[in-house]
Amino acid sequence: MAQLTLTIDGTSRTIEIDDPDMPLLYALRDELKFNNPRFGCGLGQCGACTVHIDGHAVRSCITPVSALAGKKITTLAGLGTPEKPHPIQAAYVLEQVPQCGYCINGWIMTAAAFLRDKKKPTEAEIRNALTGLKCRCGTHMSIMRAVKRAAEMMG
Ligand code: FES
Ligand code: FES
Repeated sequence: MAQLTLTIDGTSRTIEIDDPDMPLLYALRDELKFNNPRFGCGLGQCGACTVHIDGHAVRSCITPVSALAGKKITTLAGLGTPEKPHPIQAAYVLEQVPQCGYCINGWIMTAAAFLRDKKKPTEAEIRNALTGLKCRCGTHMSIMRAVKRAAEMMG
């Protein structure tokens, strides 16, 4: 058993870990009760578990927690606030995207990291950045509208 301190959404959190290879997703959900990153495939394919590590979108189900000491982890809860949402969060509301909501974490966290690095993206660039993400409710068209709207908001 070893102690590990993580910085999550601007706050230091210490956990006890038995296995250094434990996925970050398990630490977030099971140990620390951050419930926005979702378990989908567990294989790095669906994106439901995405968080930001030092601003980059990372699939937490295949990221060993022991590799993250000293890194800045951001979850959906730390991306914005109800009073000051991230543009993609605001656009999701304006475009009324969510249905069941299970996939929201993956799309928003992936899109936010993409839009941070890519100003005025083309539709093809957006589609490429979001490749592999899943929505069983079929909200893909409204997701595209929301990402385009957020891109306009971010100028
Ligand atoms: S749960 Fe991590 S990519 Fe699917
Ligand atoms: S809104 Fe239900 S899976 Fe996307």
